Amino acid sequence: QNSEQNQLISLYDQTAKLYTHVLLNTEMGQPALDYLHGRGLTDEVITKFQLGFAPGEQLLKEFFDEKKIDYQLLRQSGLFIEDQQGNLRDRFRGRVMYAIKNPQGHVIAFSGRILNKADSQAKYINSPETKIFSKGNVLYNFDIARSAIRQEKRAILFEGFMDVIAAYQSGVTNGIASMGTSFTNDQIYLLQRTTPQLDICYDGDDPGQAAINRALDAFGQNSRLKLSVIEIPDKLDPDEYVRQHGFEQFKEIVHSARLTPTAFKLVYLKRDFNLNNEADQLTYIERALKEISQLGSTVEQDLYLNQLAKDFGVQAQDLTHQLRQMRSQQS
Ligand code: GTP
Ligand code: MN
Ligand code: MN
Ligand code: MN
Ligand code: MN
Repeated sequence: QNSEQNQLISLYDQTAKLYTHVLLNTEMGQPALDYLHGRGLTDEVITKFQLGFAPGEQLLKEFFDEKKIDYQLLRQSGLFIEDQQGNLRDRFRGRVMYAIKNPQGHVIAFSGRILNKADSQAKYINSPETKIFSKGNVLYNFDIARSAIRQEKRAILFEGFMDVIAAYQSGVTNGIASMGTSFTNDQIYLLQRTTPQLDICYDGDDPGQAAINRALDAFGQNSRLKLSVIEIPDKLDPDEYVRQHGFEQFKEIVHSARLTPTAFKLVYLKRDFNLNNEADQLTYIERALKEISQLGSTVEQDLYLNQLAKDFGVQAQDLTHQLRQMRSQQS
């Protein structure tokens, strides 16, 4: 059973090497290579992250058939789709391939991206769960980032693989990502064992901001990680920001534009209100006070109370008073 896992790992290793070879050295890989170059990636970084290309044909099936790999193993690998007659076909076709690795650096799964956004297919497809891969356990790039995370005592959590890679190219090497899922306790434990601090740097668009809000709640309740938020301006993805503004400016943002979870929440909360209207202002203030009342330290509370007071032209004293009332009702 252990050897079955090793066999699967060997299969994924060979597959990753094949896909990278196709990308870098073949005619069929050229459009994908042009695409990745167009997104600013060098061949060096493509090799480092073991990016690849799965062509439109049954390349992988033929590759393993030639090597006489056992049918049952291929079936369980998740690399193929089985039809009603039990025939196996390549699961990933015509996609740029991101190798997903375990903390030891072994490839255990893939995520494949369509080349053309206009395509009606899903932008990404992922490997199914197997004996070596469970989506909820994966932290993309953790194998490469771990030493930098330990050294800097912080990790940066991105939404997408390309964001992690663009950050890496900028010299920000402690970046990781989950696979588009909400966070599991397994991922949280893995992180907690490695770092005391996590910076969340999701996309600047609305779904990204909503995801930050959810992530703060999930981590806040289930971990002792110290959290902060790095906001990317102009609704950009981190990778788009890097391409538009360069490595240095991205690093600048990463190192200086950190918000506390409360500061983020107080801004985020404003979306739900029309703050030109007094009724909305009052409800916002109430909701903001509720947020502030969760804070453990009175110094922190005072900081945000004063900001809130200034923001709305009210007395900080009155807000403090109201906050105390809320707290006594809560307890
Ligand atoms: P690029 O367009 O290549 O820059 O991808 P992205 O990482 O910026 O993707 P996006 O912000 O649209 O989505 C965020 C994350 O959600 C992705 O990194 C994926 O993990 C996941 N995701 C997006 N689209 C799909 C999809 O069609 N299927 C699945 N399974 N996951 C997706
Ligand atoms: Mn090119
Ligand atoms: Mn997005
Ligand atoms: Mn993107
Ligand atoms: Mn994105």
